[in-house]
Amino acid sequence: MMASSIANRLLLLLAAAMALTTLLAPSVLAWRRPMLARRRPMRVKVYVQEYLGDGPETTEKVLVRGPGPANPTLYPPNNLFGDTLVMDNLATKSLDNTSAPVGRLYGTYMVSSMNHPVHVVSFTLLLTTQPYNGSTIVMGGIDDSSPVLEHALEHAVIGGTGAFRGAQGHVVGKLVKVYSPTHVVMELDVYASVPVPWTQAEEVPASPLIIDH
Ligand SMILES: *[C@@H]1O[C@H](CO)[C@@H](O)[C@H](O)[C@H]1NC(C)=O
Ligand SMILES: *[C@@H]1O[C@H](CO)[C@@H](O)[C@H](O)[C@H]1NC(C)=O
Repeated sequence: MMASSIANRLLLLLAAAMALTTLLAPSVLAWRRPMLARRRPMRVKVYVQEYLGDGPETTEKVLVRGPGPANPTLYPPNNLFGDTLVMDNLATKSLDNTSAPVGRLYGTYMVSSMNHPVHVVSFTLLLTTQPYNGSTIVMGGIDDSSPVLEHALEHAVIGGTGAFRGAQGHVVGKLVKVYSPTHVVMELDVYASVPVPWTQAEEVPASPLIIDH
C-alpha cells in the first residue's frame, strides 16, 4: 500500500517533470536558437565588362588626379599616388559582352601606395535579374598586383542589401579576357553567406519565464 503510493507519487512527479520539459522546450529553443550562427551560403558569379580609355563607351573614368608622388610600379604607366577612378561597369552572365546583362558594378579604385602596385577598391554589385533583382553585394579591400598582372584578387564581402542582407564572405576577381587595351573582362566569383532569419521565433508565444531579448 505504502510502496504503491510512493510509486504513484514518483510517477506523478515524473509526468510533471516531463510535461514541464515539453512545455519549456520550445521557449528554451526560441531563446537559444537566435544565438546560434545559422547562415546560408550564397554564390554569385558575374563577368564585368570594363571599357577603359577616353572613348564615349568608357565605363571607368579618372575621378581625381592624385597629388603624387609618381608610382612607377603600376601598369599602364603614368600613375600618381592618389589617382582615383570611378566605375559604372556592365555585369554580364558570361564572358561575352553580348550575353545577358545581370547587373552593374559601381565603385572606385585609388592608387593607395607610393611604391607598390596597390589600389584600394570599394565596389558594390547591383544585381538586376532574378532571383536577386535589386539586391546588392558590397565589396572592398586592396588590389595588390605585385606578383603578376593576371592573377586572382581577393576582396572582402562586407555586406549587402535585399537577399544579401548581413552578407559576409569573400570575392575572387580574375582578369579573364583582354579584348583590347580598352576592353577587358573581369570574372567576379562571390562566396558569401547570409544569416537565416529565424521566422519560427515569431510563432512561439512569449513566455513570462523568458527574459525578452
Ligand atoms: C563587345 O566587345 C567587343 C570587343 O571588345 C567590341 O568590339 C564590341 O563593341 C562590344 N559590344 C558592345 C555591345 O559593347
Ligand atoms: C527588376 O526590378 C525592377 C524594379 O523593381 C523591375 O523594373 C524589373 O522589371 C525587374 N527585372 C526583372 C528581370 O525581374
